[in-house]
Amino acid sequence: MSSITKTNKNITPIPLVKKPSLTPTTVPAVDPGGRPDAESTRTACIRTFGCQMNVHDSDRMRRMILDAGYTEVTRYEDADLVVLNTCYVRENAVDRVRGHLGELSRLKREGRVKKVALTGCIGAAEESRQLEKQYSIDLILGTHNTYELADFIGLPGMEETHTPELPGTEGEHTAFVTIMTGCNYKCSYCVVPSVRGRMVCRPMENVVHEVRRLVGSGTRYVTLLGQTVDAWRDPEGSGNKFFDLLGRVAEEAPRVWFTTSHPSNMEDRTLRLIGERETIVGKLHLPVQSGSDRMLKAMHRGYKSDRYRRKIEVFREAVPEGTLSTDIIVGHPGETEEDHEETLRLVEDCSFDSAYVFKFSPRSGTEAAGLAKSPGAVPEGVAQRRFLEVLRAVEQNAFKRNQRKIGSTEEIYIRHAKNGNGRAVGETWSGHAVHVPTTAKPGGYVTSKIESAGPHVLYAGEPVGPPR
Ligand code: 5AD
Ligand code: SF4
Repeated sequence: MSSITKTNKNITPIPLVKKPSLTPTTVPAVDPGGRPDAESTRTACIRTFGCQMNVHDSDRMRRMILDAGYTEVTRYEDADLVVLNTCYVRENAVDRVRGHLGELSRLKREGRVKKVALTGCIGAAEESRQLEKQYSIDLILGTHNTYELADFIGLPGMEETHTPELPGTEGEHTAFVTIMTGCNYKCSYCVVPSVRGRMVCRPMENVVHEVRRLVGSGTRYVTLLGQTVDAWRDPEGSGNKFFDLLGRVAEEAPRVWFTTSHPSNMEDRTLRLIGERETIVGKLHLPVQSGSDRMLKAMHRGYKSDRYRRKIEVFREAVPEGTLSTDIIVGHPGETEEDHEETLRLVEDCSFDSAYVFKFSPRSGTEAAGLAKSPGAVPEGVAQRRFLEVLRAVEQNAFKRNQRKIGSTEEIYIRHAKNGNGRAVGETWSGHAVHVPTTAKPGGYVTSKIESAGPHVLYAGEPVGPPR
């Protein structure tokens, strides 16, 4: 039996192990081959590590670099200037960046790369001073002063025009719009509040204008971004909350999503809105971190597991076809076997479609880092086993849920054009990632029947009719 699903709705292919955030994203190059021919042309390479906020910051820096007359290249050895826009959330992120910095030092000694800039969350952290000395970095910028890059590359007086108020890349089919920065929570394990600062929200009209402008320039998919988007409230005192903003944006843009949310801020009416509005993708990313009330308390998350479960019930009822993803940390100091069992129980109850599972990583300056050597610390071997158990539970469940989609006919938004294996990567309105054999361009839609499914992705057949 096939049913056509055009409820609006929902995920980027979310790997179950790691966030795309920790994978360096090479920005699309103007000249993927190598150094452009004009000898006088300056070249720059931007590498992005981390979350979508960082991808968005890289977009803004890219515009400055292009404005300053640089050509973008993909390989370090072809670049005069290399910008590493970094993530600081987990220790291995820093190790990874160190690897890149080591390679860049060598290329600088060989005279191939001239300048290296370190930006983003590591740039905002203390540790950057030591990296600056060790690797002779030319410019260090945090997350609040990326506009200073303008000065560095010879764009005078750009502070005004490259503030965070400005949109990212315009004219592309998909765009990220930052609605708030920073975070007012103080989760025990997290460096974000110290590197990104307290929450600052953009005025509603400002966001709506940006969305309107983006849509006018061809954007077909808008993602609202922030560390806790659902904590957004209008700084101009109108009393509007995230629910109101999302509703407004859903009237302006043909396709909308938002990330990341905090369970304590997520209102039931917002969850219902996802199901009601045709233009909102039916996927929800709601980090739970643990299923144990004891751990949630130690983490200062501000909710109990049953409250989280109730939110999920509301979401499942409001968006029955929707997809749900979460973040889970295993091995936080003090986590016992019982706590872990409770996380497994919650994974079972919530039936996640995907999850980012992390092993606790002590981040200096955080409360939990101070406990990493305490008797309650979880040994690596135990953390690894728990990590695999949670991952397996999520994966089995996701696989079962995906199998149920086989036979349904879906309208699929094309995110990435057809690649070497002849399939484009798209997303259904319920937020499932789909591979589909089509030459349709990113930003377009095709309608196809789901023929098979893995734990992470659905596979669709030949589209019916032409792309729209
Ligand atoms: N250790 C492990 N995971 C962490 N995260 C944040 N800080 C840490 C840490 N110190 C995870 C959380 C968060 C996601 C972005 O990264 O699950 O939701
Ligand atoms: Fe970090 Fe907690 Fe804020 Fe999320 S809510 S950014 S985990 S402090």
